[in-house]
Amino acid sequence: MTQEVYDGTIFVNPTIFVLNKFQRMNPQEAQQRISFLTDELNRHNHLYYVESNPVISDFEFDQLLRELQDLETQFPDLASPLSPTKRVGGDITKKFETVVHRFPMLSLSNSYSEEEIIDWEQRLKKAVESPIEYVCELKYDGVAIGIRYINGQFDRAVTRGDGTQGEDVSANVKTIRTIPLSLKGNYPDDFEIRGEIFFPKANFEAMNRQREEIGEQVFANPRNSASGTLKSQDSKVVAERGLDCFLYGVYGDDLPFESHLESVNGAKEWGFKAPLEKEKYIIKTNSIEGIMDFIHYWDKARYDLPFDIDGIVIKVNNYIQQQDLGFTAKSPRWAIAYKFKAERVETVLETVTYQVGRTGAITPVANLTPVLLGGTVVKRASVHNADQIEKLDLHEGDTVYVEKGGEIIPKIIGVNLEKRAGSAKQVVFIDNCPECDTLLVRREGEVQHYCPNDQVCPPQVKGRMEHFISRKAMNIDGLGAETIDLLYQKGLARTVADLYDLTFDQVVNLDRMADKSANNLLLGIQASKAIAFERVLFALGIRFVGETIAKKLAAALKNIDAIAAATFEELVAVDEIGDKIALAVQQYFADERAQETITRLKIAGLQFEIEEAVLDSNALEGKTFVVSGVFSQFSRDEIKSLIEKNGGKNVGSISAKTSYVLAGENMGPAKLEKASSLGVPIISEADFVKMLG
Ligand code: IVH
Repeated sequence: MTQEVYDGTIFVNPTIFVLNKFQRMNPQEAQQRISFLTDELNRHNHLYYVESNPVISDFEFDQLLRELQDLETQFPDLASPLSPTKRVGGDITKKFETVVHRFPMLSLSNSYSEEEIIDWEQRLKKAVESPIEYVCELKYDGVAIGIRYINGQFDRAVTRGDGTQGEDVSANVKTIRTIPLSLKGNYPDDFEIRGEIFFPKANFEAMNRQREEIGEQVFANPRNSASGTLKSQDSKVVAERGLDCFLYGVYGDDLPFESHLESVNGAKEWGFKAPLEKEKYIIKTNSIEGIMDFIHYWDKARYDLPFDIDGIVIKVNNYIQQQDLGFTAKSPRWAIAYKFKAERVETVLETVTYQVGRTGAITPVANLTPVLLGGTVVKRASVHNADQIEKLDLHEGDTVYVEKGGEIIPKIIGVNLEKRAGSAKQVVFIDNCPECDTLLVRREGEVQHYCPNDQVCPPQVKGRMEHFISRKAMNIDGLGAETIDLLYQKGLARTVADLYDLTFDQVVNLDRMADKSANNLLLGIQASKAIAFERVLFALGIRFVGETIAKKLAAALKNIDAIAAATFEELVAVDEIGDKIALAVQQYFADERAQETITRLKIAGLQFEIEEAVLDSNALEGKTFVVSGVFSQFSRDEIKSLIEKNGGKNVGSISAKTSYVLAGENMGPAKLEKASSLGVPIISEADFVKMLG
């Protein structure tokens, strides 16, 4: 492989650095550049994720990150474990180390009624003589984390565990962009910050959509998923899922604060994402009325938040008053949680219907008499699978309790048996596919039923085509779910390969098609033939092969034939591919119908191998070059590119192993001397051109 080295001297402006990939930095220059890039990336990360105020484009950010990654590869000794490059994950934790908490991680005492809050506040007033200020904040519904910082550097992040000891999940926590790796401002030398790691609703939904797309079971709620994700052994998984964190307390000896609110604002100055007063995420009040207003406000507004909360927390602000109040065995006396009641309503279960997904998975859906819940009208609820129906012992016409807890889709949590009619018919999970009547199967160890008639069952056939044409797959302009449905109805498309046989006459005769739209559709299909192999592989809809896995497979095995022929061992040797995916890939290619589709798509001209740089010749194979000075016929970069295109390698500095020094004008005397002393031939531009033949 070509050794890429960098010129540390060309700056366009202090932020964006133009790479000249073929000149070497010395370690000192590299150290300087690494520390500059680290500071810049940390600053832009904070502006983007914490302040939502980016000042450079994503592209520019990626350029800086890539430069740092390259420098760290080149100078591994200079790579810091706290480098911003750690944000993308990659570190694997085989076993999480147990760590004893310096300050035990207590819990809050919970209350479920306003009366309990009123009683608590009365008790405090009796126990404390001076007037009390309270801070009210949100009770984030996630997983508690304690992060220690030493001299402003992230030291380690530990889960709550049993409150006395937890697990070191540092590699995973470092990927959460709102958690700073290095602090700014005037921070204490050694302290711990505590907060809640959670799954923002949008990221949770995006993850579930992706899982659905590749036939994985979706996760039920953001809280449990956040907790599961944080325990992932592969930090890359955590980085991809997009967890977030709010901080709610600073712990340490000799903290520079007198109150809780000061500490929250202080943490903000050091770079943490702390709740903002302007968003009403945190307030200070000195009255029970103020506390109640906060509770009432968020009881309604909580549904509009971009993350889940399960209550609010009220804390005594002043640290001395906190100390005076002290702790019970389990929780502080100076704080209390008010938990929102999961809003629950009664409504009638009219029917249970069943949906068939692209992968044949059957999802039961409870159709309800519409009812207002959590600010929206609810008509459907999820009942997940056959076991759930049985457990709830659902009967048609039942009056059911529906709840909107952490879950995005409301769920039935029970039946009001008093209202059940004697004649009510029990809901029994279907035996046959509602779409094609095939007998359903339930694979061993799985909770979901599947329709195995994948080649004929309409939603599966159409679903595969819809996936194939979707934006992240073949991205076929002018073709959508409606047209797929029409093509299917008319018998014009039953597999994705049929799309490439469509003619203008066939398309223009479809409902609502005019000449122009028919042309656009055919042009879109034509253009998709240029789509890169990894996307074609994703588009095929192989179970568990999402975008990332498709990329990994394509990069490792290069073409479809190699993937189809790969042994189980060869497949699991590919980065991020485990037993389950390897099996699914083998199953897919073992199916003759899949083979036929691929053959037809190959004939149609789709890309089935990765595009690799094509060599112009092998004239320079096995030769290494140091290029120096100014040339007349070509620029230096052009010369370097010619070397690579003809099978040679560029290196940065002259050694005994260098084949040639290609000298232009103004080549430095030191290089000339070194080449001569090592006996490395020095050639001119003309000699080089001759070599190329
Ligand atoms: S203060 C002494 N503030 O709720 C306990 N906790 O049982 C100090 N939580 O799992 C905790 N939001 O992680 C505090 N604004 C908030 C919180 C909060 C969520 C969690 C915490 C713990 C549980 C308390």
